[in-house]
Amino acid sequence: MMNKVTVTTHPNIALIKYWGKRNEQLFLPTKSSLSIGIQALSTTTSIHYSNTGQEQIIINGEPADEKHRQPILDFLRFFRTDANITTINPDKLNEPLTIETTNSFPTAAGLASSASGFAALAIALNNFFNLGLTQKELSQLARQGSGSACRSLFDGFVLWNKGEKEDGSDSQAEQLFDANHWPSLRVMIVVVEQEAKKISSRAAMKNSIATSPIYSQWVQESEYRIAPMRQAIAEKNFDLMGQLAEQDCLGMHATMHTSTPAVNFWTPATQRIMHLVTTLREQHAIPCYFTIDAGPNVKILCQEENMQKIREHLASLPEIIQIIESSIA
Ligand code: PMV
Repeated sequence: MMNKVTVTTHPNIALIKYWGKRNEQLFLPTKSSLSIGIQALSTTTSIHYSNTGQEQIIINGEPADEKHRQPILDFLRFFRTDANITTINPDKLNEPLTIETTNSFPTAAGLASSASGFAALAIALNNFFNLGLTQKELSQLARQGSGSACRSLFDGFVLWNKGEKEDGSDSQAEQLFDANHWPSLRVMIVVVEQEAKKISSRAAMKNSIATSPIYSQWVQESEYRIAPMRQAIAEKNFDLMGQLAEQDCLGMHATMHTSTPAVNFWTPATQRIMHLVTTLREQHAIPCYFTIDAGPNVKILCQEENMQKIREHLASLPEIIQIIESSIA
């Protein structure tokens, strides 16, 4: 056991989305998903034994509010009771911890802080308790904090296999291509809001499954997009990759828009950026595509050589707070 461990991970952005669980307790998804790691953003998490006798959760230098604290405590409970950790003396395993986590970006504004956060926490626990878990085991562990976290265990282009088994032992991520596979690929994260989202992705996806009449159709189509997406990435076929990603994102949001009550993460600024991306492509012949997660910010997929032009066009939109430009981590 070490006195203190510190781990840094990157969030990931799904090109083919995860949206919905077939098993809520085990975080088993209804379908496979495929993501890229985001070099420009990171989460750093450190763990040591608490000196207050109580569990301490500190996010970005402040004690975590209830909304962020509870999922971390739930994850710790799972880790200590259900994760089958038999190599550690139970007294040591149950001793309260101090978990400090710092994001280089706004927490919970659709920038996937839960993905990098739970991935970092899983690795940090593994290192702190010297458990020697494999990457696949860590991916399964991180999945139980936040589904998308299982993909942040790996760099580059990552597939989360939905798995078939009921106990979830085959639902984990794997790396398809490393971070250097496609050097010119870029993501421009266009931040239009820094407030935390009003509804969690966990609640919103549950609502989509339960009430959207098009949910199962999207699941089927989205699963079929995995194979051509892999191919597009293998061949570095930018337009095919972008088209598939955009379609998949629009389908996912359509399941939210058609649920009861309807869930809409898009703001007018989100829609103006979506419109601009389409215009740049169709009228200015600049290859770029968007993808959006459970928040209002837009991620523009593009290639390095077109970034300057895209930047110039984005400058006409005053509602943009910040643009974070990233390669693949
Ligand atoms: O892992 P969660 O509960 O934060 O859900 C992530 C859902 C999306 O970001 C919208 C899609 C995805 O695959 O990352």
